[in-house]
Amino acid sequence: MTKVLVGYYSQTGNTARMAGAVAEGARSAGAEVTLKKVEEVTLDDLVAADGIIIGSPTYYAQMAAQVKMLFDRSSEIRGRLENKVGAAFTSSASPEGGNQTTLISILECMIIHAMAVVGDPMETGGHFGAIAVGDPDQRSLETCRKTGARVARLAAKLSS
Ligand SMILES: Cc1cc2nc3c(=O)[nH]c(=O)nc-3n(C[C@H](O)[C@H](O)[C@H](O)COP(=O)(O)O)c2cc1C
Repeated sequence: MTKVLVGYYSQTGNTARMAGAVAEGARSAGAEVTLKKVEEVTLDDLVAADGIIIGSPTYYAQMAAQVKMLFDRSSEIRGRLENKVGAAFTSSASPEGGNQTTLISILECMIIHAMAVVGDPMETGGHFGAIAVGDPDQRSLETCRKTGARVARLAAKLSS
């Protein structure tokens, strides 16, 4: 069974609600999903996953330090995430508050791990992944579900 890890950091619940929808989407596409706060994600979780989807609030137009810490820890497993499918999602307070640069900051780390990253085909205009502004609305949650399903389907193809 294809394994998808959804890791997120959330202080006030917006990114956590997005993470729930991403996980639901991945499950609907047949994946076995692990949904965890980034502080609880282990290096073994990363290695075991076929798809890794990471969510962060937008902090100063970048990922939160707690999320960066997971990527910093992952330097210990350089080479072992190659060809896994990756995607990112974020919640910001403002529509032009740096949500896209936050997604890119996450995708950059995945690319450095030689993961195969996917973006968003114009569903919310996020381009680089799912975005919610404040409390995620139905449109954002639907994009999150589609992101989870997209990663699960591609990861199934790549790992078969
Ligand atoms: C330290 C800090 C930095 C933030 N920086 C930004 C920012 O650069 N742009 C923005 O739009 N919102 C910013 N925000 C707001 C959060 O991104 C926003 O409230 C988000 O929805 C919080 O997600 P959460 O509910 O998952 O914690 C910041 C919040 C904090 C606490």
